[in-house]
Amino acid sequence: MNILILGSGGRESAFAWKVAQSPKCEKLFIAPGNAGTTQYGTNVNIKVTDFEGIKALVLKENISLVLVGPEEPLVKGVHDFFLADEQLKNIPVVGPQQEGAQLEGSKDFSKQFMEKHNIPTSAYKTFTKDTLEDGLNYLATAGLPVVLKADGLAAGKGVLICLTLEEAQTELKAMLADAKFGEASSRVVVEQFLTGIELSVFVMTDGNSYKILPEAKDYKRIGEGDTGLNTGGMGSISPVPFADAAYMKKVEERVIIPTVEGLKKDGIPYKGFIFIGLMNSNGEPWVIEYNCRMGDPETESVMRRIDSDFVDLLLGVAEGNLNEKEIIISPKTAATVVMVAGGYPGEYLKNKVITGTENVRDSIVFHAGTAMDGEDVITTGGRVLAITTVQDNMFNALQQATADASRIYYDGMYFRKDIGFDLL
Ligand code: AMP
Ligand code: GLY
Repeated sequence: MNILILGSGGRESAFAWKVAQSPKCEKLFIAPGNAGTTQYGTNVNIKVTDFEGIKALVLKENISLVLVGPEEPLVKGVHDFFLADEQLKNIPVVGPQQEGAQLEGSKDFSKQFMEKHNIPTSAYKTFTKDTLEDGLNYLATAGLPVVLKADGLAAGKGVLICLTLEEAQTELKAMLADAKFGEASSRVVVEQFLTGIELSVFVMTDGNSYKILPEAKDYKRIGEGDTGLNTGGMGSISPVPFADAAYMKKVEERVIIPTVEGLKKDGIPYKGFIFIGLMNSNGEPWVIEYNCRMGDPETESVMRRIDSDFVDLLLGVAEGNLNEKEIIISPKTAATVVMVAGGYPGEYLKNKVITGTENVRDSIVFHAGTAMDGEDVITTGGRVLAITTVQDNMFNALQQATADASRIYYDGMYFRKDIGFDLL
């Protein structure tokens, strides 16, 4: 069968690498892809939100399965677009319809969903411009720090952790009255701050049954020792030592089952991934957020620990027989180090020639923000490459990924050398 992956980051590179290995995959297309995805399939220069362009491609190339990488096309309804189209309605899309994508697309929706289905999450209240005064009063009674979240998608920037009441009130006003994040902050969720260690849990579901994928931890801050500004993610590790069988049983019973069952009870169809962002507080899982897609750079590590045919699992989601499929997970450790552009996550350098990828010894170089410039591979994005290795133990994995990252060069390149070392 011919398969289309939508997206262009490290996550989609890892998907493409894995999908291309399946004997079920004849031709693979990636739209728009990057300089690295051409190793696994054919790039097609179509934006992930250009639904008409995607339709034309799917029909032209006889594509019979679409895997959606990022959240934006899902929240904008790419799956619904397929279902509503006579020519596309029988072509399965892996990724939820708009209603299910609200788990990520609306923080208020996801908090209401968790509250309704008794899924552990921090206490919250939602405010709009009309209830701004109530919001300011509520902040005065809430403990500190306090978390403000723009309801809608805000390119990963809509969450503010405020340390003082003054800061919280100023920010709430900016979000509601001055549209700090545009339409996304026309509603704001104010929630209690959770302490602990974060964990990313991934579930694949066909709407009835589910499979738990390898869990991972990601590292969001730019600086070593988890300091400095937030980024899209600087590295990941899987498995995560504290997420042992007893812990994952709690996660399954308290979070995963009620989530999948809750979607069913609420009549929300869901075929795709559920990414559960958890806070582990003294051994207890609390949900920080849902995403309607896989994580990046977690996917790079997760794909390398799945030993079964990933396309067969995707077909289980698409065809509603996921319960009949088997997922084989490697006991080894995968580590990913993300190489970023100089200046990132602020204004960053672009169009720098990348050299040395051929010197990498025991990692896969997944491309993210790269493009071809004649014969050269150049940097185009903030996150440039994700270097992923699999080794027998965590120490070797961390060492190998870091050593391999240092074999690559481009002007201004930077990566963290401490990914995962807090877990050793
Ligand atoms: P989100 O977009 O909801 O993932 O939030 C971005 C990041 O903010 C999370 O990955 C956490 O690091 C942090 N965060 C969000 N909500 C909370 C919370 N209630 N308590 C502590 N940290 C939080
Ligand atoms: N690594 C976090 C995310 O993909 O949102």
